[in-house]
Amino acid sequence: MARIKMVAGNWKMNKTLQEGVALAAQLKEDVKNPKCAVVIGTPFIHLATVAEMLKGSPIKVAAENCADKEKGAFTGEVSAEMVKSTGAEYCILGHSERRAYYHEDYEILKNKVELALANGLKVIFCIGEVKEEREAGKQNEVVKAQLEGSVFHLSAEAWKNIVLAYEPVWAIGTGLTATPAQAQDMHAYLRGLVAKQYGAQAAEDTTILYGGSCNEKNAAELFACPDIDGGLIGGAALVAEKFEAIIAAR
Ligand code: 13P
Repeated sequence: MARIKMVAGNWKMNKTLQEGVALAAQLKEDVKNPKCAVVIGTPFIHLATVAEMLKGSPIKVAAENCADKEKGAFTGEVSAEMVKSTGAEYCILGHSERRAYYHEDYEILKNKVELALANGLKVIFCIGEVKEEREAGKQNEVVKAQLEGSVFHLSAEAWKNIVLAYEPVWAIGTGLTATPAQAQDMHAYLRGLVAKQYGAQAAEDTTILYGGSCNEKNAAELFACPDIDGGLIGGAALVAEKFEAIIAAR
């Protein structure tokens, strides 16, 4: 199994339904034969419509979150089973914004990952250190703990449905991208951790995305690094031309 190269968008809390549909329609029109896997992560309310629109397109759809409970009296929550029923194939989990603003800890994320996988979703699992941790040289131990806390308990079979996204928090939405060398160093370290846990072949096959101010100008240089398999794109995924230029750079 060859490692999958991927460009994934994360719309975050942007776009009305109508605006999201317009963006998805534009992407469907323009992205017909990408050289890599293409995924768009949309708010829950867009999922069913956008997944239906993109049937037959190479573009796949992701939720940006799912509940840590299976079903029942959890007002306002959206389960992994519901996400799957929309036609979405992926779920982004562990995003630093969820960890920081919604207090999602290792255990909550572990439950979310298990539920997403149990419902047949693939998981784009985000990890990354904050600025103070990077300045203290602690980035490696931070990401290792994030993996050990929420995903390294998975079986080798389950691991095949995990895509990792390294997103240094200090680079998200700041315009301050990690240098290709910083990102490559971290990605190589992550691949080494996966190798220790699941073996060399699994590590070789694991897709590891970079996220954090990745845009149409810096994508090619980042993607040229041997352990950077693509990007998880925030701001630049909201503009068709920019997102398409990033896809073309992969
Ligand atoms: P930006 O590309 O806007 O920095 O966001 C990255 C991100 O958080 C993707 O999940």
